[in-house]
Amino acid sequence: STTTDPQLPTSSFVVVANRLPVDRIEHPDGSVDWRTSPGGLVTALEPVMRSHDGAWIGWHGAPDEKLDPFEDGGLQLVPIPLSSSEVEEYYEGFSNGTLWPLYHDCVAHPEFHREWWDAYVEVNQRFADAAARVAEHGGTVWVQDYQLQLVPQMLRAQRPDVRIGFFLHIPFPPTELYQQLPWRRQILEGLLGADLVGFQIPGGARNFLRLVRERTYLVPKRDRVEMDDGRTVTARAYPISINSAQFNELARDPKTVQRAAEIRHDLGDPKYLFLGIDRLDYTKGIFQRLRAFGELVEDGQIDPEEAVFVQVATPSRERVDSYRLLRDDIDRLVGRINGEIGRIGRPPITYLHSSYPREEMAALYRAADIMVVTPLRDGMNLVAKEYLACRQDDTGALVLSEFTGAAKELRQAYMVNPYDINGLKDTMVRALTDDPRARARRMKALRKQVFDHDIDRWAEDFLTDLGKADPQDRHENR
Ligand code: G6P
Repeated sequence: STTTDPQLPTSSFVVVANRLPVDRIEHPDGSVDWRTSPGGLVTALEPVMRSHDGAWIGWHGAPDEKLDPFEDGGLQLVPIPLSSSEVEEYYEGFSNGTLWPLYHDCVAHPEFHREWWDAYVEVNQRFADAAARVAEHGGTVWVQDYQLQLVPQMLRAQRPDVRIGFFLHIPFPPTELYQQLPWRRQILEGLLGADLVGFQIPGGARNFLRLVRERTYLVPKRDRVEMDDGRTVTARAYPISINSAQFNELARDPKTVQRAAEIRHDLGDPKYLFLGIDRLDYTKGIFQRLRAFGELVEDGQIDPEEAVFVQVATPSRERVDSYRLLRDDIDRLVGRINGEIGRIGRPPITYLHSSYPREEMAALYRAADIMVVTPLRDGMNLVAKEYLACRQDDTGALVLSEFTGAAKELRQAYMVNPYDINGLKDTMVRALTDDPRARARRMKALRKQVFDHDIDRWAEDFLTDLGKADPQDRHENR
């Protein structure tokens, strides 16, 4: 039955994510602003939610602050409070000090702390309780990402009438790595509370199903798991995307065109502009790509009078140790390269540790000749798709790590293994010097991919499959 709460809005379509689409920023003078939240999850989901008139349950990004639900352009936002110690233990700790590195192939060392786990359980319960109150009878609840893997089961316990979908935005690791997690069974059971569990690529779904086979007595058949209570859980890949038309339109705006020209001019009108845009995260391979570029300039393969590299690194998870260390490493590398081979007014690397509005990103994408996307591991990577969507013709080139989910779809990119610095250097030069017709053919195919597979299609594919789950069956079989 549906419990209503005077404090909370209700909706038949509810998204639950760690973050709301907007962050509450308090300035030193006490004034308050709302800013688009960082990361691919929000980029992808926001347009979906805007067209669904649903409710979005999430944290607003500030500790120790309780906010009332509010409406934002037809969307109901339901802020979930986190205390400072929960931010430390649930968000920075278990989510980003344990799960994030573990799920990204242990490219950084995951830490296991029992207090972090306790906080994770407690906060997941809070999100589940909120979802149970907001969802209307027979409605749909779509839970997002690694921070909330226990929510499907916790919600099902209270609300067997709703359809529950779960989507993991990051990779699901091979069982050999996953086994390390002391709470592997609880998380697996948490996810199996959903009707449909979505992954970015088929490999993620396979890893998950294999884990179910190895760690439970359940026997998955193809992509389905029959549960004891008569339910069926389906695990499948749904590669996420962006609102391609919207990005394209933004990039076509005369203001963007002008800004792109300004950017090139301010950089000294280089012949070639290389671009990297990432959250400052150790999974993104920023160090490897700048090192490759620095060596190319040092070797004389790239003329610093002709080429510049612009790297935007958006501040992220700044209180987590591994992120602090990374920031220092990049600062040092950029300083060394610019110090050694730059001249006055012409540093080879322009490094910006800051976040920018979408308009500025679109201008950068337009201005760039070569987009360099080199993660060591990445669930999808939407920056690569944004670059393609912002191009207006078949000029430009995409250098893309084979360890991104996007590489499974964007097959005509110049593929690299970012661990192989020499290979990376060769491919960056190749993207630069390739026959323009060959480069244009690649861009044409890549852009078609991104326009044909946009975010609406992703949401529709997932929600259509989720709609096939029949909550009534469950009751009868109980
Ligand atoms: C990735 C994750 C998201 C996360 C985003 C930004 O895209 O999949 O869940 O929101 O990074 O990270 P943050 O920790 O700032 O939310």
